[in-house]
Amino acid sequence: MKITMIGAGYVGLVSGVCFADFGHDVICLDKDERKIEALRTGRVPIFEPGLEQLVAANVASGRLSFSTDLSASVSESDVIFIAVGTPSRRGDGHADLSYVRDAAREIAAHLKNFTVVVTKSTVPVGTGDEVERIIRETNPDADVAVVSNPEFLREGAAIDDFKRPDRIVIGLHDERARAVMTEVYRPLYLNQAPLLFTTRRTSELVKYAGNAFLAMKITFINEMADLCEKVGANVQEVARGIGLDGRIGSKFLHAGPGYGGSCFPKDTLALVKTAQDHDSPVRLIETTVSINDNRKRAMGRKVIHAAGGDVRGKRIAVLGLTFKPNTDDMRDSPAIAIIQALQDGGARVIGYDPEGMENAHKVIDNLTTAKGPYEAAEGADALVLVTEWNQFRALDFARLKAAMSSPVLVDLRNIYKRDEVERHGFAYTSIGQPG
Ligand SMILES: NC(=O)c1ccc[n+]([C@@H]2O[C@H](COP(=O)([O-])OP(=O)(O)OC[C@H]3O[C@@H](n4cnc5c(N)ncnc54)[C@H](O)[C@@H]3O)[C@@H](O)[C@H]2O)c1
Repeated sequence: MKITMIGAGYVGLVSGVCFADFGHDVICLDKDERKIEALRTGRVPIFEPGLEQLVAANVASGRLSFSTDLSASVSESDVIFIAVGTPSRRGDGHADLSYVRDAAREIAAHLKNFTVVVTKSTVPVGTGDEVERIIRETNPDADVAVVSNPEFLREGAAIDDFKRPDRIVIGLHDERARAVMTEVYRPLYLNQAPLLFTTRRTSELVKYAGNAFLAMKITFINEMADLCEKVGANVQEVARGIGLDGRIGSKFLHAGPGYGGSCFPKDTLALVKTAQDHDSPVRLIETTVSINDNRKRAMGRKVIHAAGGDVRGKRIAVLGLTFKPNTDDMRDSPAIAIIQALQDGGARVIGYDPEGMENAHKVIDNLTTAKGPYEAAEGADALVLVTEWNQFRALDFARLKAAMSSPVLVDLRNIYKRDEVERHGFAYTSIGQPG
C-alpha cells in the first residue's frame, strides 16, 4: 500500500514509521519545515523510546520518506491518514478542528484515483462527515471514502502500543474502504489484534469514551487517596484490593498529582462540550474535569504544607517535569500548575527532568533547571517527586540529605516506602497513605 501521513508529530511519525515497518510505502508530511529537515538528516524531533532506530531502519530500506509538499504523494496514495493536532480551542474548550479542515482541503485538491482518507486525529463526533463535505466541495470529482481510525497509543510506549494494540477501531460507510483498511493493518490482524469495524460516528465516540473513562478512573482513585489521608487508610492497598476484582482491573489506579498530557485534559473537555451541544450532558466527566483541574494546584499547596506552611524565599527542587516518564511532552503536565503554585507562594523552583527540560522552559517562566537530581537538591528546603522516571526510583538519600538544607521529601507518585525514607532522617509526605 502507498500511504501518506499528514502530520509528523507523536502520532503521525510513530504510525508512519510502523506502517513502513509493516512493509508499506510511507511518506510523512508536515508543514513544520524544521521538523522535516531534521527527519531528513536522521534526527528525530521528539523523544520516544526506540523511534530513532526504527526511523533510521525504514529510511534505509527505502520505505519511509519525509516531505513538506503533499502535491506529489497524495495523488499516488491508496490511503491518506490525517494525524494533525486537535488542541483545545482557546476560550471555549471545544476541539480546534482548523488543522483537520486545512488538511482535508489540501488533500482534496490533489486527489486523482479512488483514495481512502482516514482521520487518525482525535476528533468530535461528526468530523468525518465534515471532512467528507470539505473534500467534495473542494474537488467534486474526487472518489474518496472517508474513514475514522482513532489512535490509542501512549507516549513513552508508542511503538509497542502501535504494534501490539488491544484493538483497532475502524469506522466507515463505504464498503470499498473495508478491504483497504484490512490490508493496511494485515500484519496486526495476523497477530490476532481485533479489528473492530463500525460506523464513523461510533468510532469517533469510542476514542473520547475510552479516554474519558480512563481519566475518570484516575480521578476516582485520586479522590479515594484524599479520603484515605483523612481516615488513616492506605490508597495503594485500596487500589490493590479493588483492582484484583476482574470487573475493575488494576490499571490506571495509581493515585498521583492529577492527569495531564496531550490527550486526557483536552479530550475530556471536548467530550463535555460535544455532549452539552447535543443536550446530553456527561456530568461524570464534567466533574472529573473540574476535580482534576483543582487537584494540580492543590498539590502545590500540599508541598507548601510539607515545607512548613510558607515557602517564601525557600528553594524547592522538583524532579520530573513531563506529564509522565519516557516522553519529552510537557503538554498540560501537572508540574506546570504545581510549580506555578510554589512560585506564587514566593519559592525559587529548581527543576530537573531527563528529557523534558527544553520544553519545560517554553511553558514555565522563571524556572531554573539543574543537570541532575543531586544538583537540583543542592541547598533545597524540600524535594518534590512529580514524575516517576526510573532514574528517580533509587535515589541516594544520604547524598540528598547532605546536599539539602532541610530533608523534606514530597513523593507525589508514591514510589518510596515511608519507613525507608524516614530511616534516612527525612520528613516524608506521600499521597493517600497514613502519616
Ligand atoms: N500524543 C498522543 O499520545 C496521542 C495519542 C492518541 C491520539 N492522539 C491524537 O492524535 C492527534 C495528533 O496528536 P500529536 O500528539 O501527534 O500532535 P503533534 O502536535 O505532536 O503533531 C501534529 C503535527 O501536525 C502538523 N500539521 C498540522 N497541520 C498540518 C497540515 N495541514 N499539513 C501537514 N502537517 C500539519 C504539525 O506541524 C505537527 O507536527 C491529535 O488529535 C491527538 O489528540 C494523540
